[in-house]
Amino acid sequence: MRTQVAIVGAGPAGLLLGRLLRLSGIDSIVLELHSREYIENRVRAGVLEHQTVDILEEAQVADRLKREALQHHGVVLRFNGHTHRIDLQALTGRGVTVYGQQEVVKDLVAARLASADPLLFEVSDVAIHGFESDSPEVRFHSEGEAQRLRCDFIAGCDGFHGICRPSAPAGAFTTFERVYPFAWLGILAEAPPSSEEIIYASHDRGFALLSMRSPTVSRLYLQCAPDEDLARWPDNRIWQELATRLASDEGFDLIAGPVLQKNVAPMRSFVTEPMQCGRLFLAGDAAHIVPPTGAKGMNLAVSDVYVLARALAHRYRTGRSDQLEAYSAICLRRIWKVQRFSWWMTSMLHKFDDHNPFDRRRQLAELDYFTSSRAAELTLAENYVGLPLELPAS
Ligand code: APR
Ligand code: PHB
Repeated sequence: MRTQVAIVGAGPAGLLLGRLLRLSGIDSIVLELHSREYIENRVRAGVLEHQTVDILEEAQVADRLKREALQHHGVVLRFNGHTHRIDLQALTGRGVTVYGQQEVVKDLVAARLASADPLLFEVSDVAIHGFESDSPEVRFHSEGEAQRLRCDFIAGCDGFHGICRPSAPAGAFTTFERVYPFAWLGILAEAPPSSEEIIYASHDRGFALLSMRSPTVSRLYLQCAPDEDLARWPDNRIWQELATRLASDEGFDLIAGPVLQKNVAPMRSFVTEPMQCGRLFLAGDAAHIVPPTGAKGMNLAVSDVYVLARALAHRYRTGRSDQLEAYSAICLRRIWKVQRFSWWMTSMLHKFDDHNPFDRRRQLAELDYFTSSRAAELTLAENYVGLPLELPAS
């Protein structure tokens, strides 16, 4: 087998990269460990920045999104029992789009199948070779047969636990990491959202988040222990705890309903530098992880592959590798700013076991400041709707 770009992983990063390459006339093969059903039903975050929606439109995969997604002009912070709305639209001229990550994945899979580009599910024993030479190769098993895929470039889009990043020789990458002493217990519920906009709540018992997927499906989260046992959280305990943490002196009724899905997600900040080793390019969660406060994970994956697709197209069109060489630096500049924002939102809103009453008062003062000063609100809003991607002229 031979292709131009071998893409390892069919998450939003790998699938969107394949799509953007197709639109530039570049061939790719996407290799995925799991089944189509699995990747299309994996519940993740669901807030898209304006720029992410623009890129999905440019990739011609936004028709359903345009019909079904929810447009939000503001976001709500709740603390000390009070509710404060940040008017994203008035502050920045932009809002955010609420559309589940797995819906983006479904749209990208449908587009890939329609264009007849190869997408191999349930491959195993994926190994990458030769990316420090001019002839990289991916070896894997598909339907019981050993395969060798020769290519010009390898895109490591295989998530945080993938094989691409660890395949580089020692010293090729430097990693930076912070693991948080808590996790999020998330539920997807068949219940109309109790609020029109997303609510981030900082409570003395811990953080809670109310989000949604559609007029009939809610997505909610509770801060919990990193090793939380889901068996200790029957549905009624989850609803009770959510009601306590989301309560408001202005009155708030949490609408409960059947829980469709439950999970515990760890919280981590992680960056790999650089994101390139020879002809191997890392993108998305394979290169960096943000804690979910602010919902930046998929947005970062999308901006990475947008830069990468553009650089590969430039390389095939002109024979020049300058944009590929600049890929890492262009992405990392934005990634670090988004890392800072995600870390800051996490720090401001969560309960930390080593915090003393001084730290809690300081957190509440910070929340008060960021919901009452126009300058501070604007800082939050411009980061929440998404910082611009600064691209070199092509
Ligand atoms: N071979 C092939 N595929 C693999 C391998 C492997 N060895 N290891 C992992 N994968 C697949 C996973 O099964 C997954 O489908 O790579 C894909 C990576 O997808 P994601 O984890 O969704 O990562 P990414 O595409 O970078 O998207 C980032 O996902 O985790 C969320 O919050 C994150 O929203 C962000 C987004
Ligand atoms: C979600 O809808 O799943 C969501 C929303 C906002 C976040 C994280 C997740 O910050």
